[in-house]
Amino acid sequence: MSNPLELGRDRTDTLGRPLRDLRVSVTDRCNFRCVYCMPKEVFGRDYQFLDRRELLSFEEIERLARIFAARGVEKVRLTGGEPLVRRDLERLIEKLASIEGLDLTLTTNGSLLARQAQALRDAGLRRVTVSLDSLDDAVFSAMNDVDFPVAQVLEGIEAAAAAGLPVKVNMVVRRGLNEDSVLPMARYFRERGHVLRFIEYMDVGHSNGWRLDDVVPAAEIVAAISEEMPLEPLLPNYPGEVANRFRYADESGEVGVIASVTQPFCGGCTRARLSAEGRLYTCLFAVRGHDLRAPLRGGASDEELHETIARIWRARTDRYSEIRSENTLDLPKVEMSYIGG
Ligand SMILES: C[S@@+](CC[C@H](N)C(=O)[O-])C[C@H]1O[C@@H](n2cnc3c(N)ncnc32)[C@H](O)[C@@H]1O
Ligand code: SF4
Repeated sequence: MSNPLELGRDRTDTLGRPLRDLRVSVTDRCNFRCVYCMPKEVFGRDYQFLDRRELLSFEEIERLARIFAARGVEKVRLTGGEPLVRRDLERLIEKLASIEGLDLTLTTNGSLLARQAQALRDAGLRRVTVSLDSLDDAVFSAMNDVDFPVAQVLEGIEAAAAAGLPVKVNMVVRRGLNEDSVLPMARYFRERGHVLRFIEYMDVGHSNGWRLDDVVPAAEIVAAISEEMPLEPLLPNYPGEVANRFRYADESGEVGVIASVTQPFCGGCTRARLSAEGRLYTCLFAVRGHDLRAPLRGGASDEELHETIARIWRARTDRYSEIRSENTLDLPKVEMSYIGG
């Protein structure tokens, strides 16, 4: 077994990419049924969600996170499903916040944020990303499919900001559903000083019936905003940043686009995903995850787990978005709500 202190020499995968970010799904459940993620036809009453005992405990997640941090992970994002439906999440945040040098953040649909924001902040959360696809209740309802009102998400965003959490807002744009919401969203969040990021609709999983025609290319979004509020490109904050950043020419704020379909960024991808039951996925479009829960519960030492993770990462070849084509559409893929978006 190798000495963890010596692992710095071979930290990259087969394409020279280091492991820097970890997304941890804390639950596969959600109180929304977004049509592009958990459509009701599939995630309805009969859908088999994970049993509670199958989920990694907070202690297990903390242990793995410490090992990932020792291997070079600098940022952990909690996600799901909807992370705020996992009970006592602030207990996990407290544990992860005690890991030195780790940037800790969370992606949420915002529905439960108003009442949890202060506790999350107090537990040590650094930042938050809130997903919101429209300011129009009819459009938002058609997307979340549970009639959830926009106002409550906005309340969550303001509560997070008031608690001292910097907020970014994510909007998935799907042709024919919410493209008319792009400009109103840009105007609204520019005025309030929150960074808004537009995400191209992706072919994750199989349940959403993705078609290329449903994707609104990021370039089209940038052009539409720029016509009314001129934009200038910005340099990335750090190598491998997934969003292309722009600032308003009058310096009134920033927007970003995540163009994973039209401008894939696999070459700089430093991200791994841990599913709620402890499977490690090295790509959002991966076919198979690596079970870390079995060794974890089977008595493996930290060094053994460290070496297992190192081995998986070293062998990584994923670059799905770069090779996406008609032929890749039917490949087996896991759902985003399971793997953690
Ligand atoms: C899977 S969700 C999990 C966290 C939380 N429930 C939320 O919605 O923010 C994470 C992110 O993935 C995005 N997402 C889900 N399905 C997507 C798809 N097919 N294409 C692009 N983004 C998607 C969501 O909009 C959200 O911003
Ligand atoms: S995108 Fe988030 S809120 Fe919407 S169904 Fe998926 S997990 Fe739930």
